[in-house]
Amino acid sequence: MTEPNTYRARTNYDAKKAGIYQQRKAGKHASELKLIERAFSIVPKNLEVIDLPCGGGRVFLHLASLGYKVRAGDLSPEMIKIAQKNANDAGLNMTVDLADVEALQYTDKSVDAVVCFRLFQHFPTPAIRQRAVSEMCRVAKQYVVMSYFSPYSYTQVKLILRERLGGRKLRKFPTSLKEVEGYFANSGYRLVKDFAEFNLIKTMHLAVFERI
Ligand SMILES: C[S@@+](CC[C@H](N)C(=O)[O-])C[C@H]1O[C@@H](n2cnc3c(N)ncnc32)[C@H](O)[C@@H]1O
Repeated sequence: MTEPNTYRARTNYDAKKAGIYQQRKAGKHASELKLIERAFSIVPKNLEVIDLPCGGGRVFLHLASLGYKVRAGDLSPEMIKIAQKNANDAGLNMTVDLADVEALQYTDKSVDAVVCFRLFQHFPTPAIRQRAVSEMCRVAKQYVVMSYFSPYSYTQVKLILRERLGGRKLRKFPTSLKEVEGYFANSGYRLVKDFAEFNLIKTMHLAVFERI
């Protein structure tokens, strides 16, 4: 069994890993940004959104281009450096914060919406998942938009088969929408809509939750 905190070692991006993450395949990057646009089509444009974790900043840069007021934070100092440079280059007047989604330093309801893209699938235990969701829900006034990996996809079945046949060990943790909804319900939020990147084919989903 994976130790509860091992995800931190894998998701703490040093300079090399941070640089590599910026070179994601163009098709994959475009498909993920399209998913974000679809989900944000139901989030009013004038709202302030905090991107947690922001990585190199591609999500907040895209949201800013769509008309949202943006803020951002991440746990890896190397990612923060890249995101800050990207924000400056884009002319955004903001400071990228050092932030841990399991223990956020922001006060309750201090931002209209939180977006959390490509982190939840790394959380190895229900306790960590609940802690992170509760923190994001506490800080958001209205919406939390969070991605997760669905277990019901062709890609996931392929990965499981590969592992069973002695291939690379699975290091991500898919969760059903029902499980994800449970963490949000415990934090006083309900599902507005769930968006699949490519339903039943790809694992990536992005769900919009609102405060009840
Ligand atoms: C796969 S990247 C995704 C970044 C960005 N959302 C994107 O899609 O480009 C995961 C990020 O999560 C950050 N991270 C890992 N654990 C974290 C935590 N507990 N709190 C905040 N950020 C964390 C890492 O530093 C890394 O930048």
